[in-house]
Amino acid sequence: MTQGKVQTLNQFIIERQADYPDAKGELSRLLHHVGIAAKIVHREVNKAGLVDILGAAGDMNVQGEDQQKLDIFADEHFIDALKASGEVCGIATEENQHMITFNDDLSKDAKYIFLMDPLDGSSNIDVNVSIGTLFSIYKRLSPVGTKATMDDFLQPGNQQIAAGYILYGSSTMLVYTTGNGVNGFTLDPSIGEFCLSHRGIKTPIDGKIYSINEGNYTKFPYGIKQYIKYCQENDKATNRPYSSRYIGSLVADFHRNLLKGGVFMYPQSISYPNGKLRLLYECNPIALLAQRAGGKASDGFQSILDIKPTELHQRVPFYVGSKNMVKKIEEFLKKF
Ligand code: AHG
Ligand code: MN
Ligand code: MN
Repeated sequence: MTQGKVQTLNQFIIERQADYPDAKGELSRLLHHVGIAAKIVHREVNKAGLVDILGAAGDMNVQGEDQQKLDIFADEHFIDALKASGEVCGIATEENQHMITFNDDLSKDAKYIFLMDPLDGSSNIDVNVSIGTLFSIYKRLSPVGTKATMDDFLQPGNQQIAAGYILYGSSTMLVYTTGNGVNGFTLDPSIGEFCLSHRGIKTPIDGKIYSINEGNYTKFPYGIKQYIKYCQENDKATNRPYSSRYIGSLVADFHRNLLKGGVFMYPQSISYPNGKLRLLYECNPIALLAQRAGGKASDGFQSILDIKPTELHQRVPFYVGSKNMVKKIEEFLKKF
């Protein structure tokens, strides 16, 4: 997949802008700033064992989850970079109870709304396992020149202008889509640049991997229990049994399945009656990437991207990955 000629993220963004004659460069500048924040968080993640940034910060976020120091670090640095870009009029993140709207003239004139999970997979920070950042960009609905409103944030995923993630893994990668396919960039630390490494990612239509926290098995809906059994059955013709792989960081689990083929599941359960994952910060950006790469994302019954959100921190059952595998899950949920 590596190209002979190195193309940096910024070169790629500028090249793509030329595909849209009406584009004035705002989205390009915004993505450029996302790249900067990603590098700052990458730097901190990479030295996490050496400096005092591991562990709990002592607070809980709006959803009652322990905040880690890196959650807060990533949240603050992304917000700072986005504000500095002057291209967003509002931000909502998993770590902030309310939407953040800016009052200065530059921001009020901005066109875009930005939603993010600044640090995904918090439980993996202290044990040196892959974590990520997820983001989602919309055009505002309210008039330019005014303060952003809640309606700007509560748009269905199918209205996303761009979405992506950063994976802080064995290497750091930025994967995003703006409408023209899904492209992946790997950070070359020696030059400090994200370089195009995965052009036009397409996900296999079928896969052999299923990813779910099976510790919650007894609490799952019956259809999902039956599907897990199906994954474990022997059937040469359909490549079963599948392999079970679960990291516990959505970004990392999704990224692996995107490249290899597979399905990620986080169903509703007794502990999480609406599922655990957040529609706006986690499911929507992943769903857009999956769909653009030829995969599928569902809440079990309908496309994730068609759900009209009613609140910022809304949760939803989530099934995403290879198209035929997600379709199979929907069949099981309908049947049982
Ligand atoms: P976050 O760290 O942003 O709160 O997200 C954690 C999410 C997601 O990354 C992962 O897929 C899931 O929680 C893991 O949950 P379990 O530990 O319940 O399996
Ligand atoms: Mn998360
Ligand atoms: Mn998070």
